[in-house]
Amino acid sequence: METIIRGIEGIEEAAEIIRRGGLVAFPTETVYGLGGNALSPEAARKIYAAKGRPSDNPLIVHVSGIKDAEPLVTEITENARRLMARFWPGPLTLILRKTEQIPRETSGGLDTVALRCPENACALRLISESGVPIAAPSANLSGKPSPTEAGHVAKDLGGRIDMILDGGPVGIGVESSILDLSADTPILLRPGAVTAEELSAFLGQKVGIDPAILSGTVSETMHPRAPGMKYRHYAPEAEMYLVTTRLFRDRGEAIGREERELSDRRTARWIRERAERELSEGKRVGILCVKETRPFYPPDSPDGTLSVKVLGSREEMLTMTRSLFRLLREFDEEKKDRIYAESCSDRGVGFALMNRMRKAAGMREIIL
Ligand code: TXA
Ligand code: MG
Repeated sequence: METIIRGIEGIEEAAEIIRRGGLVAFPTETVYGLGGNALSPEAARKIYAAKGRPSDNPLIVHVSGIKDAEPLVTEITENARRLMARFWPGPLTLILRKTEQIPRETSGGLDTVALRCPENACALRLISESGVPIAAPSANLSGKPSPTEAGHVAKDLGGRIDMILDGGPVGIGVESSILDLSADTPILLRPGAVTAEELSAFLGQKVGIDPAILSGTVSETMHPRAPGMKYRHYAPEAEMYLVTTRLFRDRGEAIGREERELSDRRTARWIRERAERELSEGKRVGILCVKETRPFYPPDSPDGTLSVKVLGSREEMLTMTRSLFRLLREFDEEKKDRIYAESCSDRGVGFALMNRMRKAAGMREIIL
C-alpha cells in the first residue's frame, strides 16, 4: 500500500478515506493519532493490524463536541457534562458507559468507551467532514514512542496506512489525561496535560489515581482499568536510568535555589563520571538534561558516541513534554546503549512527564 502524505489541504480526501473504511493518521494537540471510522468493526481491526497492537486494548473515540458524544454513551453524567464544557476541546479523555453504536472491536470488548475532543483545527475538521466519530490510538507501531511529528508516523506506519495528514509538530507531546467516570469516584487512569489537581479542584471532589500509574507496572493477576497498562510500554533500545538526589526527591519544588544548584551539580557529576566510564568501555551514551543544567555537561563527541540532549526549560514544562518522545527516538536512531536522564519535578504536568520517563526507564531510578 502506498501512503499518501498531505498537508491540511488534504482533509477532504482524508475524510473520504475514513468514510470508505480506510486509515488516516492526523495531528492532535497531544500526539498524532491513527484514525478510522469508530462505528466500523473492520476499521478497528485494520487499526490493530497496522499498529501491531493487541485487539483487547481499546481505542479512544474522537468527537468534534458534546453533541457527537451523546449517541455513543448511555448517559452523559453531570460530571461528564461539566468536564466537557470546561476542558473540551482539549487533552482530556473521558470514560463513560457505551451504547450499541460502538462496536466491541473499538472498545476492546469493554462496556465503556473512551471519548475525546482534540484541540486541533485539522483534527476537528477531519471529524466533521468524515461525519463519523474517529477511533484513533497514537499513530506509532506498538512498542515505539507516540509520534509527535508526521515524519515519525511515516517511519513507523508508511506503507501500512492510506494517508498521513501533516499538521507540523504537536504542542503537548504526551498523550491525553484519561479520567474514568464510569464508577462513583472519578479515577485518573493516565496522567496528561490536564492534571489530577485541576480536575479535583474543578469537580470539587476527590479524584482517585489508578495504582498502576504509581507503580508503573501491572502484575499478571491485576485487572487494569486502562487495559493499555498491561502491555509492555515503550522503552528505548538503550537501558535508560533516571537520576536524582535524595534532597530533590524528598523536597521537590520546596527546595531553595542554592540547594537546587547543589543537587543539579551532584546529579550532573555522577552522570558525567558514569558516562566517561562507559564510553571508555566502548558503549554509546546519551544524556538527557534541561536547559538550566546543559553547561554542566561536555559537548557531544564528534564520533557520535556521546550525545547530550536538552529536554527543555524547567521554567516551561510544555517545552519538555513536547520534546521527550522525539529525543528518545533520536537516541534509538543513534544506537545508544545507555541513556542517563535527570529526573524532573513530579508537580502539575510534571507528573505526566515523569510517568512517561519512568516507563521509558523501566522504573530504574538512581537516587544519590
Ligand atoms: O492523546 C491521546 O489520547 C492520543 C491521541 C491520538 O488522541 N491517543 C492515545 O491513544 O493515546 P492510545 O490508544 O495510544 O491510548 C489509549 C489508552 C489505552 O491505554 C487504553 O487502554 C485506554 O486508553 N482506554 C481506551 N478505552 C478505554 C476504556 N473504555 N476503559 C479504560 N481505558 C481505556
Ligand atoms: Mg499509544
